[in-house]
Amino acid sequence: MDISKLVERLAEAGQSHVLQFWDQLNPEEQAEMRVDLESMNFMEINNFFKSAMKTSGQSSQEKVDSRMEPVPREVLGSVTRDHESLKKWEEEGLRCISENKVAVLLLAGGQGTRLGVSYPKGMYDVGLPSHKTLFQIQAERIQRLEQLAEKQHTRKCCIPWYIMTSGRTMDMTKDFFMQHNYFGLKEENVFFFQQGMLPAVDFNGKVILEGKGKLAMAPDGNGGLYRALGTQNIVKNMETRGISYIHVYCVDNILVKVADPAFIGFCTLKGADCGAKVVEKTNPTEAVGVVCKVDGRYQVVEYSEITLATAEKRSTDGRLMFNAGNIANHFFTLTFLKDIVRTHEPQLQHHVAQKKIPYVNTQGQLIKPDKPNGIKMEKFVFDIFQFAKKFVVYEVLREDEFSPLKNADSQDGKDNPTTARHALMSLHHRWILNAGGHFVDENGTRIPAIPRHGPAGTVTPEVSQNLKDGTDLPIKCEISPLVSYGGEGLEHLVNGQAFQPTLVIDEKGAHELVKNGL
Ligand code: UTP
Repeated sequence: MDISKLVERLAEAGQSHVLQFWDQLNPEEQAEMRVDLESMNFMEINNFFKSAMKTSGQSSQEKVDSRMEPVPREVLGSVTRDHESLKKWEEEGLRCISENKVAVLLLAGGQGTRLGVSYPKGMYDVGLPSHKTLFQIQAERIQRLEQLAEKQHTRKCCIPWYIMTSGRTMDMTKDFFMQHNYFGLKEENVFFFQQGMLPAVDFNGKVILEGKGKLAMAPDGNGGLYRALGTQNIVKNMETRGISYIHVYCVDNILVKVADPAFIGFCTLKGADCGAKVVEKTNPTEAVGVVCKVDGRYQVVEYSEITLATAEKRSTDGRLMFNAGNIANHFFTLTFLKDIVRTHEPQLQHHVAQKKIPYVNTQGQLIKPDKPNGIKMEKFVFDIFQFAKKFVVYEVLREDEFSPLKNADSQDGKDNPTTARHALMSLHHRWILNAGGHFVDENGTRIPAIPRHGPAGTVTPEVSQNLKDGTDLPIKCEISPLVSYGGEGLEHLVNGQAFQPTLVIDEKGAHELVKNGL
């Protein structure tokens, strides 16, 4: 096999070391490695590394406090503070949906390293009574929303679902959807596309080998979306379908309101091209990025980029001044996305994430480092806020809309399967109470309405004790998204009734699993 051209290209880019085990590879391995290497532009990768390191060097030293301004009230919508407008926004969103103008786009290309499973996160079952996976929950919310829009406007409609995967998650994701008949959605309305991958590099920019013939590859961050939208012809596909508005969200938020009509209606009525859904940051030291203006342009500022004094600043109403907690949940017009893909994407810088990256040493042995030995280069989905002509922010309640699955279960843990399961069941408990139902224990005594679990995303010592005792709080109940998208339509099923947990409400009605011996 003549690889002289490849050898030359690698030498020019200072990456010749990747061929150090070439002679030890069998012909098949050599062929595979050659395909991988020939598809890569090493000069471009070197440039990405240089500019990412430069930017990260600057941002690690420089605090942006003096250049920051909070989100002004006129671009802010809030489910609590603008209660009287909610109905109007929701109706407008449903109208857009009924006209087939709305698509949802799922970011599902991550590796889920913290959760530590070998399959895509969307396939995870957090242990709900139904054992539905995150993918199924989202698919059913889409179906229910289509029905609500159809009912309001008496015309058939469809919300196409674009699912971004990566080289590591594509095949398993597609197979899973096929095995489950697309969870009731039409196959032609679900599109899978793949984001790019980049090799991990050491601190000098040398590509890391994870095997003798294999580079350590990782997806290029959720902001890899914008390149993929162009290269995979997704923007064209959306245009052909007549899509105008896109809701982009993360796979791991069990409470996500896919294509939330109120959010969409708020953004469109404001004439926005770009919108961010946020939750209130209440604790100054919480490590969450905040949406704000820096030098007059919108962006997300990470906790590490500001001083504690700024993080602790409060407005006259007592809330944190910089409190718009980013949850990677966005609205874009197609016109804006087209502009990004065509004009701005190449200007987006990669961010640097220091990681422990398994590598082969010069003897060819696989080493798992115990401290970071290299970097992954990632773009972020919110990097494009700066280009918006009309940017808006929409604040929602964390306990209603945000509970991400990031970590594996551990005692007193955060953002794990237990907290995700609790958040969903606690929300459904509130829906049942709001619809006039309530719960009783095995003796028929009414169970107090206030759940005893901790703030969303955490497991308090009390809950942790209850978990050990087997009394898994909060009250076990689950409502199928096919029955209710946001708490609507439950009165006829629950009003005036007492239920004993575990309660499951699905298309066949309300079932108490205990009474049924389940
Ligand atoms: P996270 O940053 O939480 O990453 O992704 P992750 O891959 O899920 O988990 P860790 O950090 O490896 O433990 C937030 C969202 O962005 C998506 C993820 O799938 C998730 O929905 N994402 C992340 C991508 O689509 N592509 C990426 O390259 C990275």
